[in-house]
Amino acid sequence: MYQVIARKYRPQTFEDLIGQEPVRTTLENAIRTGRLAHGYIFAGQRGTGKTTVARILARCLNCIKGPTAQPCGECASCLEITAGNSPDVIEIDAASNRGINEMRELRENVRYRPARDRYKVFIIDEAHQITNEAFNALLKTLEEPPEWAVFVLCTTEVHKIPNTIASRCQQFSFRSVQFDELIERLEYIAKQEGVDADQDVLAVIANAGEGSVRDSLSALDQAIACCGKTLRVDEVRVLLGVFAIDSLQAIADAVREQNGEKMLEVVQELDRTGQSLQHFCRELARYWRNLLVAKIAGKPTRLIAASDREQQAMVGIAGDFSEEDLTRYLQLTLDLFKTLQSSLQPRLHLELGLIKLVQVGKLQSIEEAISRLGADTPLRASAPAPRTGIAKLAPSGGRTSSAAPEPRTPAIPAARTVIAPERKPDRSNGPSVKQNTGDFKTDLHAALTELGMKMSADAVQHADVRTDGAEVVFTTAKTFLLGLKDAAVARSASALLGRPVKVRVEIDANRTAPSGAAPGSERKETQMPVDDNVTERALSHPGVKRFQELFPGAHVRAVRNLNE
Ligand SMILES: Nc1ncnc2c1ncn2[C@@H]1O[C@H](COP(=O)(O)OP(=O)(O)OP(=O)(O)O)[C@@H](O)[C@H]1O
Ligand SMILES: [Mg+2]
Ligand SMILES: [Zn+2]
Repeated sequence: MYQVIARKYRPQTFEDLIGQEPVRTTLENAIRTGRLAHGYIFAGQRGTGKTTVARILARCLNCIKGPTAQPCGECASCLEITAGNSPDVIEIDAASNRGINEMRELRENVRYRPARDRYKVFIIDEAHQITNEAFNALLKTLEEPPEWAVFVLCTTEVHKIPNTIASRCQQFSFRSVQFDELIERLEYIAKQEGVDADQDVLAVIANAGEGSVRDSLSALDQAIACCGKTLRVDEVRVLLGVFAIDSLQAIADAVREQNGEKMLEVVQELDRTGQSLQHFCRELARYWRNLLVAKIAGKPTRLIAASDREQQAMVGIAGDFSEEDLTRYLQLTLDLFKTLQSSLQPRLHLELGLIKLVQVGKLQSIEEAISRLGADTPLRASAPAPRTGIAKLAPSGGRTSSAAPEPRTPAIPAARTVIAPERKPDRSNGPSVKQNTGDFKTDLHAALTELGMKMSADAVQHADVRTDGAEVVFTTAKTFLLGLKDAAVARSASALLGRPVKVRVEIDANRTAPSGAAPGSERKETQMPVDDNVTERALSHPGVKRFQELFPGAHVRAVRNLNE
């Protein structure tokens, strides 16, 4: 009869066990030194070896050559424990025998000496399922156990074991097994079974278990049943419902390229092929997590459950993002997963969530942006709007958002809202060309008015304007200096002229500001008696310049001489 791989390859000795080193060493030492406890709790994730180790312990104790940490595997006791019919090793499934009667029976049983062997070992599986009454009955036994009794309580939910019980037992935690150890085990088993499987296939199979060795072995069973003696990675992926790393990579590409359309295509494809959108979302979260780890480690690491080849690819992709970016994507994807779990319209929510990833784009810290200013990276006035055409807000907290399509030379971000041109004129990109009259001064005035830059618009109106090579020269009264020095003037002028120009202001001492040049509160500022020298110095201060470059929407409203 066919025996499933998980059972066929259940470790019979500590040597066969993978992972769980602390458990193994402690138990081996206890056996060697004869310091055995009467009660053990084996706690931890399912399929990681709790029942297996309980049986190994039973063999160690009852092997004819024992007690020994290396049971012979040949004596009646060893063989019977393996077969599950040893008279002195009693396995109780608490899931179905959880009541007081079973525990009373067990108490009775404990009182009798072992039928043949040294110890009576009681392995209680799913121990957290025992009822309170039954636990009380068990407690009595644990308080005064006969010398031959050993209890092993196995559970995935150790917090459900009452303290009274737990405090009388030695507790061991079973951890999920390291990926590479699991791969090695799978490789070994595949070889024993005469099955051809490369590292990528094994990685897929190992991952399918989500930390449970048993589940990974079941996946291997399934793969062999379906694909025969040669396992092909694409076939196994489909079989196990694992998404090709390519489709996850497509998401990362779309985020990097700020390509909302590509996102929607991925969803379309998932829907078309009938894949679970929730499952995809979960895989995506795992993918961001792996990229984040790859980013932090900078090289393949044990912390990522993927083949070396896949890890190399991840390190490459992670290089295009910052740790903060990846952290945010992970958070957003986890939020999305939560939403999807209760969503009646998962496709809509998935689309929305993925578009959000595009919109948040990539962040640049102020520090990064400033340091880039230091280097002679070409500056761009503002980030291009995302293709989705939806407003992109720079989050608060001293960080600004940039939606540069080319990751290696990110644009200097706009601190204010960047709005796609088709919806509203973009503040930072100057006026739309359609409205131009052809007269530069009039157009510039109109553009600044439209941007809400009243002070600058007024200043333009009260100046003579001419172009001089790469400069626009304003001749005006000193009152208007501030308004003209606003970065928005140079930007709007550049946009109108279709080439980058700088602003130069020539002060005409004969001019004075006409009264009523600027209405209301603006007037006070506009007509504020500014010392040209102080203003010039303030505006040419590198700190102020950096700010103006970093926050193109910002403008200097007034300069005060602190010495006065
Ligand atoms: N640490 C391990 N080393 C090698 N094989 C393991 C290990 N853990 C589990 N296995 C494999 O998985 C199968 C199931 O393991 P086991 O029954 O010990 O898990 P468990 O922790 O008791 O799980 P559950 O909580 O579901 O009862 C074993 O037969 C064995 O093939
Ligand atoms: Mg078990
Ligand atoms: Zn033996």
